[in-house]
Amino acid sequence: MPVQNSEVKISERYALLLKQVASLVQGEEYAVANLSNLAAVLHHEFKWFWTGFYLVRGEELVLGPFQGPVACTRIAYGKGVCGSAWEQKRSICVADVHAFPGHIACNASSRSEVVVPVVVNDKVVMVLDVDSEHLDHFSEEDRLGLEAICQYIAQEWPTWK
Ligand code: SME
Repeated sequence: MPVQNSEVKISERYALLLKQVASLVQGEEYAVANLSNLAAVLHHEFKWFWTGFYLVRGEELVLGPFQGPVACTRIAYGKGVCGSAWEQKRSICVADVHAFPGHIACNASSRSEVVVPVVVNDKVVMVLDVDSEHLDHFSEEDRLGLEAICQYIAQEWPTWK
């Protein structure tokens, strides 16, 4: 019987995903095209509530390619989970968004969240935000898997337009 995705270990799913990500962006230098496909491949693999990028534009994060319901378009430096991950230059995993002071609720259905910054030359250029409608949905394996994808994006980012 074929092994269903849900039966494969999360870390293995991320390892496969990373290979898929590399082949998806190969030969394409348009950042919007690549980030759009990355949001789609992640979102459909894990069936999260919301998956997307916020790009650093001056003192704010601006909504980039995403999958899921409509979301806030701008987030200030240091605000919410996304702005905090940017300010602290580290991943933030929130098991219960209602317990995170300053959490920005783009949608009331979101209950837990992970935000990972993409750091290029020591500067955050964007964050990847993934949301679940389930409490405490994300594990350490998710954080590590998402960080590996964001490191890959950081490595490619200087060659994208
Ligand atoms: N919850 C995020 C805002 C972005 S949405 O969830 C898509 C935050 O607190 O930064």
